[in-house]
Amino acid sequence: MDFNKVIDRRGTFCTQWDYIEDRFGKGNGDLTPFSISDTDFQAAPEILEEIVERTQHGIFGYSRWNHTEYKSSIQSWFEKRYETIIKEDWVIYAPSVLYSINLLLEILLDNDRKVMTHTPRYDGFTKFLSNYNLYEIELKEISKGNYVTDFEKIEEGFKDGVSAFLLCNPENPVGKVWTEDELIKLTKLCKKYKVYLISDDIHMDITRKKYTPVLKIDSEYSIILSSTSKTFNIPSLGGSYGIIPQDEIREKFLHHLKNVDSVSSPTIFSVLSTITAYNKCEYWVNSLNEYIDKNCEYVMKELDGYKGLEVYIPEATYLMWIGFKNLNISQEQFQKALIEEGKVAIMSGEMYGDKHKIRLNVGCPMEKVKVGVNGIKRAIEKLMN
Ligand SMILES: Cc1ncc(COP(=O)(O)O)c(C=O)c1O
Repeated sequence: MDFNKVIDRRGTFCTQWDYIEDRFGKGNGDLTPFSISDTDFQAAPEILEEIVERTQHGIFGYSRWNHTEYKSSIQSWFEKRYETIIKEDWVIYAPSVLYSINLLLEILLDNDRKVMTHTPRYDGFTKFLSNYNLYEIELKEISKGNYVTDFEKIEEGFKDGVSAFLLCNPENPVGKVWTEDELIKLTKLCKKYKVYLISDDIHMDITRKKYTPVLKIDSEYSIILSSTSKTFNIPSLGGSYGIIPQDEIREKFLHHLKNVDSVSSPTIFSVLSTITAYNKCEYWVNSLNEYIDKNCEYVMKELDGYKGLEVYIPEATYLMWIGFKNLNISQEQFQKALIEEGKVAIMSGEMYGDKHKIRLNVGCPMEKVKVGVNGIKRAIEKLMN
């Protein structure tokens, strides 16, 4: 595996590289993108081999996920990597993590539809949370890159009838990993007020601080949703999984999945890649983490303090949350300069709830990170002149 290897993704119906204009405007298709959260790395060689072998078989009939090989690969990943014991029976397959969050909210919420989550948050949540009665808790940055929640406010909301809490562990975009102590406090409140905790752990494997799955602490009110898609860069193979310990909720979920949404057969590539990733590719995840750490350190060294930029190394993810409030420029001005001078497509923080931030994706070869860093510098220089 060579994470330095640059592979052209243009012309592959690739959202990040081929559809830049959708997010950054007509005529901007030639920018270098650091945008949506996938990486520019090839999947682990064992996954590629598995897919080639299955492809050569040539028959792609209906398939199944509900077997020991699939479920035990997820079970053993949580046990060996995160010392968390889950039961095989708790595992379910679903088309995507967002699908599962939506369906769980429909199952768990009462008529008041009160749901709580943090801000800033992943924009994919924002899109569907507008259908609910939303309670937002601000993630406060008490020192650079160190975010905390407000447990008093959480309890107030719970008293007010919130029936589900949507957590993101680790958080996208701020990169926070929830500590064991924080999860203990949160799950205690959930139990006290009978609030279900849906934890989206899709970014769990790329971390610089110990990640604790909430199911290590509580399996009465907690549910984990995750996928191999981020870590192994395989979202277009389809599929995700959930770990739902509560029998009644799991049964309702599966009933809806099969009988209402008519999802019976998983994509075979999702099933095979998950089994292979979790059974054979832990070494690859460790190397990936080392590589991304270096990318983060490089950005930190080059950009932190640059003309007032505020950069920190996130506790997790390949997404860097960069502040520019000291520069006295608007997001609009910054984006214009990033596009016109920097020739780079970088996500506006406004989409996630902070208009003085940008989100830089460093899940790519170092060579591309350098293009991004230089683009940001050129944009700022132009604005400062
Ligand atoms: C926190 C988080 N959850 C979910 C998703 C999307 O997952 P899926 O495609 O499985 O719905 C993303 C993708 O960026 C994400 O960052």
